[in-house]
Amino acid sequence: MRILIIGEGGRESALATKLHKDSRVTKMFFANGNATTDAIGKNVHLSEIHELRDFAIKEKIDLTIVGPEAPLVAGLKDEFKRHDLKVFGPDQKVASLEGSKAFSKKFMQTYDIKTAKAVIFDAYNEAKEYIQTQEYPLVIKASGLAGGKGVVICDTLEEAEATIHDFMIRRIYGDAGIRLVIEEYLQGFEASIIAFSNGEQLFPCIPVKDYKKAGDGDKGPNTGGMGSVAPSPEFTQEHYADFEQHILEPTITGLKAEGFSFKGIIFFGLMVTKKGTYLLEYNMRFGDPETQVLMALMENNLLDVINDCMNGKEVQLTFKDEKAVCLVMCSGGYPRNIEIGFEIVGEDKVKHSQLLHAGAIRRGDKVVSNGGRVLNIVATGETYEDARKKVYEDASHVHFDYSFYREDIGKF
Ligand code: AMP
Ligand code: GLY
Repeated sequence: MRILIIGEGGRESALATKLHKDSRVTKMFFANGNATTDAIGKNVHLSEIHELRDFAIKEKIDLTIVGPEAPLVAGLKDEFKRHDLKVFGPDQKVASLEGSKAFSKKFMQTYDIKTAKAVIFDAYNEAKEYIQTQEYPLVIKASGLAGGKGVVICDTLEEAEATIHDFMIRRIYGDAGIRLVIEEYLQGFEASIIAFSNGEQLFPCIPVKDYKKAGDGDKGPNTGGMGSVAPSPEFTQEHYADFEQHILEPTITGLKAEGFSFKGIIFFGLMVTKKGTYLLEYNMRFGDPETQVLMALMENNLLDVINDCMNGKEVQLTFKDEKAVCLVMCSGGYPRNIEIGFEIVGEDKVKHSQLLHAGAIRRGDKVVSNGGRVLNIVATGETYEDARKKVYEDASHVHFDYSFYREDIGKF
């Protein structure tokens, strides 16, 4: 099989490393890839859908796996399908469950999926009036894709006024912010459940804990994810039963009723509160850094799972009875202003963990930083502490200028 993976993060490195071990995979290409994927296959510099399509035709790609949401929301699957190219991921309409928060909120409301109470606004004046009447904190979301920055938790009315002005009048995220979802604030802890879909059924993986804040103790700004742990130590059997009944099952009903059949991934972003488990959002792709810990524990052959889903077959997912910890090493300043191009040294001293590159590329015989989240260090162990020790021991040997990471990933 000739496989094309779209994306360049640690998530794509984890998928690639898993697929690479399979003797049926004869060649892998990555658009745009990173230093890990460079060592496994060939990185190609393509981003437009028509360029990717032409490349897949020319290189006789048997399967394309899409990491990030943007190409799916832009209709990559639809275009590939027109050319009989197989993609593991949903078409544009179904990808709107991630690409439009207004669309997904309506879907959740229609199918009685447990979610925060929310109202959708297209008119600035109506939103402005509404926020006067609400309790705070209040959550304001740009409906469209805003690179993970479109959700603001407003503590005061003044903040809410500034936010809707930024989104709807100043249009700081362009068209993404002209429609808003304004919803009640939920307090609790978050969990990620990623499920494979074979077009009919969903097969959930074990729950994962993602660390979203930049600083220890969940302080500081939101990021793409500073680390992850699987299974989530907080998400109990009772939480799972609640999720199954009030989120998973009605989602399956809704997907069927709307004709939203897809072969790919659906990711449930959950908030567990005292009143139970709520769905914050759907992502229609693998999570980053959730995928890194799931791949470390997954016992199935990933290609079999994907092929079975593509062929509408049932999948039995199994995970090692161990714990996995993923630490994300970042560029100084992340998630705000960063500098790139610093040489990464000490990778050869990583002995107990898997090192997966994210924003890091090969330049000559060196590997240099090339993004905010630079690399991941992933280990498994009998206990969280075992896995955590391996990760931090290995992380202490890897250096690049101004690097930083959280000290409390997997510490409970
Ligand atoms: P979303 O993209 O909708 O998942 O939102 C991004 C992040 O904002 C989530 O991971 C939560 O940390 C936070 N968030 C979103 N909605 C809410 C809510 N209703 N209450 C509290 N926090 C929220
Ligand atoms: N880690 C959250 C995400 O991938 O969106």
